[in-house]
This record gives sequence, structure tokens and C-alpha cells, in this order.
Amino acid sequence: MLYILVRILDFQSHIHLIYTLIHKRAIKMDVTKPTSCWWVVLVALVIALNLATLCNGGVTSKFVRKVEKSIDMHLESDVFSVPTGYNAPQQVHITQGDHEGKAVIVSWVTMHGPGSNTVEYWIDGNYQKLKANGRVTTYKFYNYTSGFIHHCTISNLKYNTKYHYQVGMGHSVRSFWFMTPPEVGPDVPYTFGLLGDLGQTYDSNKTLTHYELNPTKGQAVLFVGDLSYADNYPDHDNARWDTWARFAERSMAYQPWIWTAGNHEIDFAPEIGETKPFKPFTHRYRTPYKSSGSSSPLWYSIKRASAHIIVLSSYSAYGKYTPQNQWIEEELPRVDRNKTPWLIVLMHSPWYNSYNYHYMEGETMRVMYEPLFVQYKVDMVFSGHVHAYERSERVSNVAYNVINGICTPVSDQSAPIYITIGDGGNIEGLANNMSEPQPKYSAYRETSFGHATLDIKNRTHAYYAWHRNQDGYAVEADSLWVFNRYFHPVDESTSS
Ligand SMILES: [Fe+2]
Repeated sequence: MLYILVRILDFQSHIHLIYTLIHKRAIKMDVTKPTSCWWVVLVALVIALNLATLCNGGVTSKFVRKVEKSIDMHLESDVFSVPTGYNAPQQVHITQGDHEGKAVIVSWVTMHGPGSNTVEYWIDGNYQKLKANGRVTTYKFYNYTSGFIHHCTISNLKYNTKYHYQVGMGHSVRSFWFMTPPEVGPDVPYTFGLLGDLGQTYDSNKTLTHYELNPTKGQAVLFVGDLSYADNYPDHDNARWDTWARFAERSMAYQPWIWTAGNHEIDFAPEIGETKPFKPFTHRYRTPYKSSGSSSPLWYSIKRASAHIIVLSSYSAYGKYTPQNQWIEEELPRVDRNKTPWLIVLMHSPWYNSYNYHYMEGETMRVMYEPLFVQYKVDMVFSGHVHAYERSERVSNVAYNVINGICTPVSDQSAPIYITIGDGGNIEGLANNMSEPQPKYSAYRETSFGHATLDIKNRTHAYYAWHRNQDGYAVEADSLWVFNRYFHPVDESTSS
């Protein structure tokens, strides 16, 4: 009943709006003339047709797509092919290796033996090769034994420089390259790609292809968790961790992917004797957590160009007195906005999500950390988990104290924009069931697979864009100029 009453009151307010518009216009023109009458009818019609949108918070996209089940790519697909040559390095990937962007961690897997731990690398155009030695590790998971997983940190790199690197031995050497970021500074432009919940379906391949062919594609990927979805296979078939990394190598060997752990990285399976959470993920993917004073690879920070990126773990303890809580409380005051104006947080489980999937799963972490995010003026928070896209207004919900009943999100220009981007295309399919009406805090939402980019221009402005897979590579389905909360805290919302 209450909902119907609210809708009636909303409708009445729109009728009042139409009346006001007509009345104001009528003062200036003779409404007895036929042309004026047409104008009045047109205004009324346009507003009436838009009533459904005006009644809700933001935009629920009307984009219509053919919804089909996402199917994992066949094991014989070329994206999974094993490189030629005996014991050739495969699953090559890189990530940032220190706090400031002067080191890179190179990782790869050899299947038949440890082979060489060495990375040879050199500056583009300079053939003097340098060497760094890494370490090799293996792990067992139920009846699966991993290949030889190599991790090698190469340090003291020059900023803004193209490096070539080689891994492997003899006839199985493989070569790749990467660009180091510019030196950290407040007005350094930099573009990040945003991907989440990727998996290894035909849709995953479309998402990655769209990202690669996007004319404004990122220089590094902020990945918001849920990589391979190997745990959807019987006994968490870890061979699917291998196939996923062979599939994604074409991007992650050439630009760093910044890792966030999702629920599909937990791999907790006591029914088959596997009780160490995050075992496959932490053996395969490294993060530079020690350089930000973290005690766990699952939460950490990096600085890159003009951004300070904080990665949190939705699936590690974060309550009072826990290591993650202690770390974030110490980390946020350390952020120097005069050096890195853009403060960005990655986590897997979203706090503001109006889909009927994983609804309120992020709520306990929101209660713990949202006051800090508002206090320290976080610019943007990126999450995954929900297999769709959603962008929030700048809102906070920090007034509630158990007694006062103030538990509605309110507009807050010190709060971040929350983006859910768990739309990589994994086997679990799209989240197409939304709560109705769209809450006021939700600016735009759409059930489509895709990716996004965040193009930082300087200390005040960044351009954010989301791309759906059905469109051409350059098409932006949702976009926004984002204003920095520290240097330019102006309301940039287009729908409020
Ligand atoms: Fe997830």
C-alpha cells in the first residue's frame, strides 16, 4: 500500500510539473493559436512517456539483448592452446611489483619441469640484456598437481619505458613486452581498464577482445575478482586455472593486471580435504603487498601515475582488531593526495547493489569501512560479483547508529561513486533481476556483459566509460566526467 501511495504522490508531482511548464509557457504565448496548442500537447506527451523513468532513481537501461546461456569455451579452442616447444613457458602474466611502479612481477608456468627461473629483459632499442632470478613453487589440490609456477620480480626499472622480456630455455624461449608507468605525480595522465568476473566462456572472450580493441583501452587492468571459475567444475578442477591463464595471457603478459580476490578464488572444499582458502590463487597470482605494509597478499595498495589504488578482500576478516582493519585504518591517512590525487578502492562484493543477486552481501563491510571512505574522500569504488553493470550516485549511509533509525543512503559529495562491473561474461550468466523501483542512489544499471575504462586526465578530471559487448569497440554505453574529491569536489552527477 505504501508503495502505491508513493507512486500516486510521485505521479501527482509530475502532473504539477506539466501544469507548471504549460502555465509558464502560456504566459508568453497565446494559447488559443493552433501552433501553441500543439506545443502544449507535445510537452505533455513527452513528459508522460518519461514518467516511468522520472518516478525511479536513475536509469534502468532499456537495451534489449539476446540472452543466451554463457558456455565455457571448448578445451580445444585456440585461446587455450599450449605454446610450442618442450616445457615452453605458458600462462605468462605480469603485475606491479612494488609500491611506486618501478618493479614488475613476471609469472609463468612450465609443465614438465622447473626449467629456468630467469627473466631476461632489456629496454626497447637497447640490446644490453639484464637478468633477474625468480622462484618456483608447486601445489597440490585434491587429485591435481600444478605445473611449476614461476614468479620473478624485476626491479629498478625506468619510468615510462618500454621493456622487452624473455622467459624459457633453448627452443622454448618466449618473448613479450610491457610499458612501465610514468613517475608518480599529481597531474600524470593514465588510463586503467576495468574487468571483473571474467571466467572462460565465449562471452569472456568477447569481453577481453572488446577491451583489447577499445581505442581508449587501459595501460593496466584493475581486476575486481573472480578469475577462472575453476571451482564450478567437479572437485574444483584446477586444470581450469591453467586454461584460464592461457586464455588471458594475450593481455596480462603485456600489461599489468592488478589483482583483487573474489569468492571464486577461495577454493575452500573440506569435502575433498581442501581447507586452506585461496590456495590456487595465491600460488598462481602474486601481489606486492609487503611494500604497502600489508601482512596478506589479499589486501594491499599501489601507486600508479596519479592514482593510489587500495585493494580490499571481501572474504578475509575485516572486523575490528583484524589485520585487514588495522591495515586500512593505517593506510588511508598515509595517502598523499598531493602526490596521488585519485583514491580508488577495489573489492569484490559491492556495497551498493540494486540487483536481486548477492543483495546486501557487502553490507557488513560497508558498515565497517564506509565512514572511513567518506572521511578520506575516496573517489571511486569498483566491485564485481554481481554479473551486470551498475553505477551509483555519490551517496553515503553512515548516519545510522542502531538507535536512531536513520538508515537511508543520502547524497554526499564526500562519498565515492560505486561501480559494479562484474560483467566479464563467466559461466554463471547474467544477473537480470533488479529490485524495483530503482533506488535513488542507483544512477545507471544494465544487464549486459562488458568492461570499462577510467581515463585520468589530471588532478581534477577523469573520464569514465562503460562498454557493452554488443556494441562496436568505440561505443560508450555509459560515461561520466568524474571530478576529483580532493581537488575539485563538484557534483558531477547527470541524473540528480
Ligand atoms: Fe563473485
